[in-house]
Amino acid sequence: MSFSRTRRLRKNQVVRNLIRETSISLDDFIYPLFIVEGENKKEEISSMKGVYRFSIDKLLEEVRELLDLGINSIILFGIPDEKDSCGTSGFVEDGIIQKAIRAIKEKYPEMYVVTDVCMCEYTDHGHCGILTDDGDVDNDKTLEYLGKISLSHVEAGADMVAPSDMMDGRVAAIRSVLDENGYEYIPIMAYSAKYASNYYGPFREAAESAPSHGDRKTYQMDYYNSDEAMREIMADLEEGADLIIVKPALAYMDIIRRAKDEFNIPIASYNVSGEYSMIKSAIENGLVNEDIIMETLVSLKRAGSDILISYFAKDIARMLKK
Ligand code: PBG
Ligand code: ZN
Repeated sequence: MSFSRTRRLRKNQVVRNLIRETSISLDDFIYPLFIVEGENKKEEISSMKGVYRFSIDKLLEEVRELLDLGINSIILFGIPDEKDSCGTSGFVEDGIIQKAIRAIKEKYPEMYVVTDVCMCEYTDHGHCGILTDDGDVDNDKTLEYLGKISLSHVEAGADMVAPSDMMDGRVAAIRSVLDENGYEYIPIMAYSAKYASNYYGPFREAAESAPSHGDRKTYQMDYYNSDEAMREIMADLEEGADLIIVKPALAYMDIIRRAKDEFNIPIASYNVSGEYSMIKSAIENGLVNEDIIMETLVSLKRAGSDILISYFAKDIARMLKK
């Protein structure tokens, strides 16, 4: 019987490990968390099994658990009680995110805290910016607010900000506000290639951020395009982005790989809510085996991701322990 080289090298697990091209570890992950006002709340999000909205007291318990599991980095999303047309609750000192960051940093300064910077969770109309009288998003006016939001997060103790609004010029605007206030060392991770996607459905329920009218197609990208994503990334890098995000991840692995090849920079992939919930529900219904989670996230690494923003981080922690 003849054996090819590849087959000889596949025969034994230790050898398979020796020649593996991709690795995955908890150091790659940023885990998203949703925070609400109130006390003693840990409410499961019905569209995202195993993902919860936490009040700050319960959030601290979760952060402890994450650190114990080996997950050292989180990204925070706030769900405020009060919303208005300019998203005031997004940048006030006692806003939900600002309070959460301070509470985490007081108790667990070792947890690396990234914040999502956007207006859609805080505006009553649910769009990612300030609207003009005609109901369009006013790009330049929005930039001012994104600067205020970012500064308020960093003043509360955030380690990194991640603008997800897709307005033009936001990275430069945020960079200059941070620099003017002495925060030159805080990195900006820009959602540079963010597509107008159906995969955000469960998140919008989780964050109560669905737009009350219209959609986000005027500011998020058209999923027919790839060159455009490269231009968006280029623009964000020129404006001073330190890291870039491709979002969603699974249907966009070509974008991840292309960005990795064209720009020699660290790339984060956002494995979004719809991707999470589809896989969770397929597992729950017995259609596929749970190992599909590892396969999926390893595939994102293989495609060129350095960082994985994923609701699966805790599942991966469990699987890597085995
Ligand atoms: C806010 C934001 C969204 C997500 C991250 N930040 C929603 C959106 O743009 O509608 C999606 C995350 C997910 O689906 O898991 N702009
Ligand atoms: Zn938004």
